[in-house]
Amino acid sequence: MSDTTGTRRDFLYVATASTGAIGGAAAVWPLINQMNPSADVVALASIEVDVADLEPGAQMTVKWRGKPVFIRRRTQEEIDAARDVNLDELPDQEDRNANIPDGDASDANRALDETGEWLVMMGVCTHLGCVPLGDAGDFGGWFCPCHGSHYDTAGRIRKGPAPENLPVPQAVFINDTTIKLG
Ligand code: FES
Repeated sequence: MSDTTGTRRDFLYVATASTGAIGGAAAVWPLINQMNPSADVVALASIEVDVADLEPGAQMTVKWRGKPVFIRRRTQEEIDAARDVNLDELPDQEDRNANIPDGDASDANRALDETGEWLVMMGVCTHLGCVPLGDAGDFGGWFCPCHGSHYDTAGRIRKGPAPENLPVPQAVFINDTTIKLG
């Protein structure tokens, strides 16, 4: 049965661009302005996300390069569910992970860390681009209500029209509590 209501553990975190670098020095604005990167360079920028407050079983959504990115701290149950899946059952056999090119869709190839606790994915349905809902769907992961695509707890497409797993962007832990995207 579909569960499209379980978004209460999501919350939105909008990452701000690192404008602190210019320190509010209004007097030098004309020079700084000339040095500003063009809009397309800004769009490629990396961001750092503090995940220290994220509890197991919760996720945050950050905006990066104009798109939502889901960062989920998975429970052991979610990890186990994802790792118990027979890969033959998966409609998309590829990991779709920018950090592991050409990997299979095993959960280990999707998670950010070896324990599998951290999952980072673009929050964009691979069907026509809606934003899926967390804690929802037949597989306990994400559900896209636009046309009924169900993703599992590793963000892999399991049922519905979406052709591919949710993409994992370039991401890395740069310390215990900070994930860098890009
Ligand atoms: S956009 Fe998600 S199912 Fe169509």
